[in-house]
This record gives sequence, structure tokens and C-alpha cells, in this order.
Amino acid sequence: MKKPQIPLDELRAQVEACHACPLADGRTQTVFGDGNPNARVLFVGEAPGKNEDLQGVPFVGKAGQNLNALLEIAGLNREDVFIANVLKCRPPGNRDPRPEEIQVCTPFLREQTRTIDPEFIVTLGNFATKFILKTEVGITRLHGTLKMAGRFKVFPIYHPAAAIYDRSKWEALEQDFAYLGELLKRE
Ligand code: URA
Repeated sequence: MKKPQIPLDELRAQVEACHACPLADGRTQTVFGDGNPNARVLFVGEAPGKNEDLQGVPFVGKAGQNLNALLEIAGLNREDVFIANVLKCRPPGNRDPRPEEIQVCTPFLREQTRTIDPEFIVTLGNFATKFILKTEVGITRLHGTLKMAGRFKVFPIYHPAAAIYDRSKWEALEQDFAYLGELLKRE
């Protein structure tokens, strides 16, 4: 029998109460995710940064500004989509997520995905891509290519923060978001 979907409000309360790993001790608050609960497209980033930890909302800092501009290229805005992260708490100093943190935190992302039931999952950067596609292939090879994970269409894209330090990534991001816009019209 199919497992029942857990309502997003209930999942949010579970995330807020979570102390399953030491990241809970350093957080200002959890960052559950934000957007349309019936979204056709679910974006998955890596983990909250400083601004997200302070505001409790994903992608509100510089990477978020980049993401907002890129969404426009695909003909989307933040109210159309749902945005979540692999980790719900900020790693200290924005270090990379650790395997054990990913392991304890991703049941939340899995349940969010089941409840939202999007058509597309857009993975932003290596951590989201590796987790969703269960692959060790890096984002440099995978970005801009359409894959499947179960019933979900998965579209890996560079992390929008990558363009903050490497301007050459911006062109790839623009191209990939333009292609995403086409896919959303075509599929
Ligand atoms: N980077 C991420 O991966 N997620 C955020 O929410 C912000 C920055």
C-alpha cells in the first residue's frame, strides 16, 4: 500500500523540532523551504547560509539574488516553484555538508518531495545532484542534461553561488535556465 503523504505544515514542525545532529546547536532557526506547495518544479539547493539562517527562508542572500534572476530566464518566479535544501540547518562557516548530516537530514527532503510531488526536480550544485540522482558524477558533466529519478524528471544545474566567484559559470547557468524554460513548455 502507498505510504500516506505527510502535510507540509507537519513536516515543517518536525524539522523545527529536530536535534538529530550537532548543526541544531549552532542554528538561529531551521530553513524548511518556501514556495508553492503544489509546484511543478522543486528546486533543491545545498544548505542555508548566514542570511537564510537569520531569516528562516532559503536563497535570500547573494546566491538567492542570482537564483531570482535565473528563474526569470526560465519564465518562472518564486511563487511558482518550491525551493528547499539538502540540509535544513546552516553548517558553521558555510562548510560543506558532511555525509552523516546528509544521512540524518534527507528523510525530510524525501518527504517534502513525496508531498509536493513535482514533475521536475532541479538540483542546484553537486550535493543536491549527487543525493537526488544517487551518482558520483560531478555537476560539470551533468549540468543541463535531463535525467530521471523514479517518476521525477531531474535537471541538474550549477549552484547559483558558483557564479559569484567564477563569472564563466554565469553563461552556463543562463543557458541551462533558458533550456529549463523550454522543457517546461515542451514536456
Ligand atoms: N545556498 C544554498 O544552497 N541554499 C540556500 O538556501 C542558500 C544558499
